[in-house]
Amino acid sequence: MDIKINLTATPKEKPDQNSLGFGKHFTDHMFVMDYAADKGWYNARIEPFGPLTLHPASTVFHYGAEIFEGMKAYRRPDGEVQLFRPEENMKRLNSSAERLSLPQIPVEESLQALKAFVNVEKDWVPSAPGTSLYLRPFLFGNDETLGVHTIHNAKFVIIASPVGAYYKEGLNPVKIMIETRDVRAVRGGTGYAKCGGNYAASMRAGDRAAAEGYSQVLWLDGVERRYIEEVGAMNVMFLINDTVVTPQLTGSVLPGITRKSCIELLNEMGVKVEERLLSVEELSAAIKDGTLKEAWGCGTAAVVSPIGELRMGQARYQIADGGIGALTQKLYDTLTAIQWGQAEDTHNWTCKI
Ligand code: PLP
Ligand code: COI
Repeated sequence: MDIKINLTATPKEKPDQNSLGFGKHFTDHMFVMDYAADKGWYNARIEPFGPLTLHPASTVFHYGAEIFEGMKAYRRPDGEVQLFRPEENMKRLNSSAERLSLPQIPVEESLQALKAFVNVEKDWVPSAPGTSLYLRPFLFGNDETLGVHTIHNAKFVIIASPVGAYYKEGLNPVKIMIETRDVRAVRGGTGYAKCGGNYAASMRAGDRAAAEGYSQVLWLDGVERRYIEEVGAMNVMFLINDTVVTPQLTGSVLPGITRKSCIELLNEMGVKVEERLLSVEELSAAIKDGTLKEAWGCGTAAVVSPIGELRMGQARYQIADGGIGALTQKLYDTLTAIQWGQAEDTHNWTCKI
């Protein structure tokens, strides 16, 4: 794939690395590529960051034909830049595309685009502890007609944002509320796909939780409203006795790459992991009888985030005394040391730019 590069004549000043927040600052360039059914993907380019001009009838505005990915580029101690399991993200992008009938991109080509783009924006990868360059590839349908039909035209774009912690709490425990009214996804729906619509449908519950002082909601399955699924931007894990229990991938849960990596790391630590259905009743019994020791969420943006308080109905439960449990801390340390290149990568998960 040939990628045209048009560099900006007016690079921006880089933000202060100690107050980046999440997704507030954007780099100087973006990657853009177009799709037409009769041409395939074409016109791959890296151009100055700026607005996209779209026809008001574009499919994305009316029928939500949009999918995205979230991944990070990390600054290693030796100054080099690396990605973490990028091919997993590009494979998931294709799985999401397949679900929404959007055109897929051969993984070699999306990886090539990603690496070429990060190479251009290398100076934007921050080095302060806990910071990284968040990469947001997204793909949407832009047929210029109001008919509901197969997508013939699409765009694939990658933008990047230097980021710090996703939650204002940083590695401090977050408060999560179990959602009992809205559902995020049902089996057979789009839960396993990373599509914008899943997030749009989750905003109302998120707003209600925020109004009561909670960072995010914990979703239950959409049919029986009984089994724990995931949190708004992360998968969840619970240490019950000495076993880590995480909801199995039923089709309505996003197959997180951090989740998959955590399971592999826990197995190597000799910690037993069960991927299975976990009901609210079982979880609340484990809280009440003291067998729930720790709980955390895991995701690219959230990394490993301890859950310090869980709200179920009117009851509020403190977990791990509202602090960071020992296993949560160990998992955070082990995973982040690999991601930031501070520990040897024995899994071949990282890829230098
Ligand atoms: N679940 C949801 C709903 C998410 O948005 C994310 C973030 O991408 C995750 C889970 C975690 O996935 P990953 O570890 O691949 O970032
Ligand atoms: C991520 O972790 O990459 C996410 O996409 C979470 C969120 C910002 C939507």
